Formats: sequence, C-alpha cells, structure tokens
Amino acid sequence: MNVMETVQKRYSVRSYDDQRPVGDEIRSRIQQLFTEHDTGPFGTAVRFKLLDLDAVDPGESKSLGTYGMIRGARLYILGAVKDVKGSQIDLGYCLEKIILEATAMGLGTCWLGGTFRRSSFARQMELAEDELLPAITPVGYPAESAAIQDRIVRAGARSTRRKPWSQLFFSVDEKTPLTEDAAGAYRNALEAVRLAPSAKNRQPWRIVRDREGSYRLYLKEDQFYNRILGKIKMQHLDMGIAMSHFELAAREQGINGRWDPSAPAVNIPGLEHIALWRD
Ligand SMILES: Cc1cc2nc3c(=O)[nH]c(=O)nc-3n(C[C@H](O)[C@H](O)[C@H](O)COP(=O)(O)O)c2cc1C
Repeated sequence: MNVMETVQKRYSVRSYDDQRPVGDEIRSRIQQLFTEHDTGPFGTAVRFKLLDLDAVDPGESKSLGTYGMIRGARLYILGAVKDVKGSQIDLGYCLEKIILEATAMGLGTCWLGGTFRRSSFARQMELAEDELLPAITPVGYPAESAAIQDRIVRAGARSTRRKPWSQLFFSVDEKTPLTEDAAGAYRNALEAVRLAPSAKNRQPWRIVRDREGSYRLYLKEDQFYNRILGKIKMQHLDMGIAMSHFELAAREQGINGRWDPSAPAVNIPGLEHIALWRD
C-alpha cells in the first residue's frame, strides 16, 4: 500500500452501493487483517468482528441502526477492548490500520463512535462485562454518486478541512511552530497525522519535537466532549489513529521507530502526554 496516497484517498463514506456486496475473498482478507492488527502500542488486545447484517435474525437486525447516518451498508467491523489504560488508543491504532488497508482495496469506511446503537451492536459482539465497544465502521463499496446526505454531513462537520501545520506541530515548546521544511524526513509522518480522521473533526492531536529532536504526541482534550460518553473516549481513539498514520508514513520514508507510551512524560500545561516516538 502507498501510505500517503491511501491517507489522502480515505474519507468517511456514509452511502454504500447495496447492489455490490463485498465478496468472500475480500471478507477473508479483512478477517486476516484482524489477526495482523490485534494489539497496539499500549500492549492491550483488540478484538474484532466482521458482522454481516444479512446473517443476523431479521428481528434483531432492525435494531442495528446508525440513526440514519449510514446508508446501504450490510457489513460492519466491530472493535472491542477491555476497559484498561491505553486500550482505546490501541483500538484507534489497530482499526485505522485495517481501515487504510480497506481503503487501498477500494472499500469505503466511516468511523462511528457516537451515531450507532451501541447496545445492539454490543450484543452481536457478545461483549464481556469488562469490555467496551468504543467504535464500529461500515465497510463496503461506496455508492456511485455520493448521496446528497454525504455531502451535507461532510459540509456540516467541515470534514474536508484540517488545521494548518502551525496549529498542530511545534518545536521545543508548544508555542514555536514546526515548519514542513524543518520537519525534514518527518514531513510526511506529520502530514499524515494532519490528514487523519478524528471525532467531529476536532483534530485534538499536537506533536512537539523536543530538544533531543524526538517527537512527542499530546492530546489537547476537549474535556466536555471527551467525557460525554462516559467510559468511551472518542479522543483517545483519535490518538491511536494519529499514531498509526505517523508510524506508517515514517516507515514509508525508511524511518524505523516505534511509539513508546511508557517514556517519562514532558509535561506541557493544557496538554496530555501520550507517547514518545523512538527512532
Ligand atoms: C473516533 C471517531 C469517531 C467518529 N464518530 C462518528 C460518528 O459517530 N458518526 C459519524 O457520522 N461520523 C463519525 N466520525 C467521522 C468524522 O466525523 C470524520 O472522520 C471527520 O469529520 C473527518 O472527515 P473525513 O473522515 O471524511 O476525512 C468519527 C471519526 C472518528 C475518528
């Protein structure tokens, strides 16, 4: 997969072609991706399920709704984790890698953290008591002409917009912007973060290159928004998504490194330290 191309190609598809089901071969490939991406940087296990609505009891399948947000999709990926530190970041990381692979295969997806009937999907996942179902995504071929609703939703969420580099990436402290030129070999890794999807397109990621030249990821949390769903933390999913984009784009540039969430934090007021990139 060409990472930068795929990152640019991905967008939230909300209308699917109901005349073009996803074939068995692609389904098997998706199932295989679940085993390839079953743990994240925090080391927690992520459990996935590919749910075919047509295989669900008709009475039950009616309850598997998305409040009208998604049309025409018959296949969903469900992602569950234990409710432990870092697990939702790990889910963001693993599911986004699967989403990018699916995008490269010509499939559409749409992260859903809020607009789906969580308890009904949780039944299909056979959720254990200590598990959460933070998010799901439909997966399928996008409808030929993006439905009008897709355009309205994306315009309403200002989905095509991203914050400029100067508001996201910094050098040494959180006040000095890091320019694309100064980022050197890491330019693509940072740009891939900037283009990542995030809940309500809030783009809560901040990255600071410290004095040693290492990159640190921070969360600029919207405390009200991130607590509205109780234990489910949309903005922690966003962090994992950003980590996967950074890592994949860095690898594509020949940079070998990894995210270390247990590195001692460098605290910056108003930001939560998530992890240090070690190359
Ligand atoms: C963690 C997460 C949760 C999301 N939850 C929803 C949701 O519940 N409903 C929805 O329609 N879109 C949801 N989205 C999609 C975002 O609105 C979308 O990614 C963002 O507006 C950027 O648009 P794009 O994906 O088309 O680039 C979610 C995205 C993320 C990353």
